[in-house]
Amino acid sequence: MSQLAIEISNITKIFGTKTVVNNVSLQVPRGSIFGFLGSNGSGKTTTIRMVCGLLTPSSGSGSCLGYDILTQSSVIKQKIGYMSQKFSFYTGLTVYENLRFTAKVYQIAHAEIEINAIIADLNLEPYRNIKASGLSGGWKQRLALACCLLHKPELLFLDEPTAGVDPKARKEFWDYLHKISLRDGMTILVTTHYMDEAEKCTDLAYINLGELLYSGKTRDIIPFSQVKSYLVQADREAQHQLVATINQEYPTVLATFVNNDLRISSRDIQALNALLQCFPNHAFSEVMPNFEEVFIGLIPA
Ligand SMILES: Nc1ncnc2c1ncn2[C@@H]1O[C@H](COP(=O)(O)OP(=O)(O)OP(=O)(O)O)[C@@H](O)[C@H]1O
Ligand SMILES: [Mg+2]
Repeated sequence: MSQLAIEISNITKIFGTKTVVNNVSLQVPRGSIFGFLGSNGSGKTTTIRMVCGLLTPSSGSGSCLGYDILTQSSVIKQKIGYMSQKFSFYTGLTVYENLRFTAKVYQIAHAEIEINAIIADLNLEPYRNIKASGLSGGWKQRLALACCLLHKPELLFLDEPTAGVDPKARKEFWDYLHKISLRDGMTILVTTHYMDEAEKCTDLAYINLGELLYSGKTRDIIPFSQVKSYLVQADREAQHQLVATINQEYPTVLATFVNNDLRISSRDIQALNALLQCFPNHAFSEVMPNFEEVFIGLIPA
């Protein structure tokens, strides 16, 4: 068995005259929690739909769980779980009824046992008889996940599963992803716009307007980016003056306030050096770039 759950080569998707995914190749290791990041409209959902066999690429090839994405989409659909960007369950049905319906769709054997097991595993028991419309965001998302997991997929696609969910519920959701990754060997491909979630992934791919900018281990993205960051120790007024200068004259430099400090970052080392020299009275100390600085820094000017 291949060590890769997903392997796609040079896939492109053109809608009309617009190329929305351009020659993207990805390798998703089995058992990984693979984060797929990129700004709005960059092609994440389109790529996922091609990998699942829900959308035909304009060109390119690939396999998902060893099955050809061009010719074996019906097998792929049975073996994966896909939580789409819009939650897909029935708001008028209870948690239990939604799972019962899902079990019928997938023709799951021993449905009652499986439903009880997933309800217990996701701590949904207190909500079993609550209508989905009455659940808060975090519990709705858990119900959607339960529906995706009921047929025991080998590979899970989660498209922005935690958008709009509070930090505690997001953390608990991610703890559960790590649990099923370890316990069940589940491979998870997840899209997110949250930087703290990107850090929780074992591997990352980063796409911008259809172009793949990075694919590899999470820990390697900071050195790969070549972004440099500095903390500026100066009073508030000097910080604001520096920000104004950056906004007017240094478009490749990012300035961000964090905890009353000003951070500046860029992969344009010349611009950073010029700034450092422009403001000799400010103390600049080099710090480790954070993920926000890395992801914004990687976007081509
Ligand atoms: N069926 C379609 N027909 C035409 N254009 C489409 C279609 N589906 C997506 N697009 C376009 O393709 C581009 C990529 O969209 P996609 O939904 O894949 O981006 P995304 O990275 O998932 O964005 P988001 O973070 O907002 O979810 C966008 O410009 C979108 O408008
Ligand atoms: Mg999307």
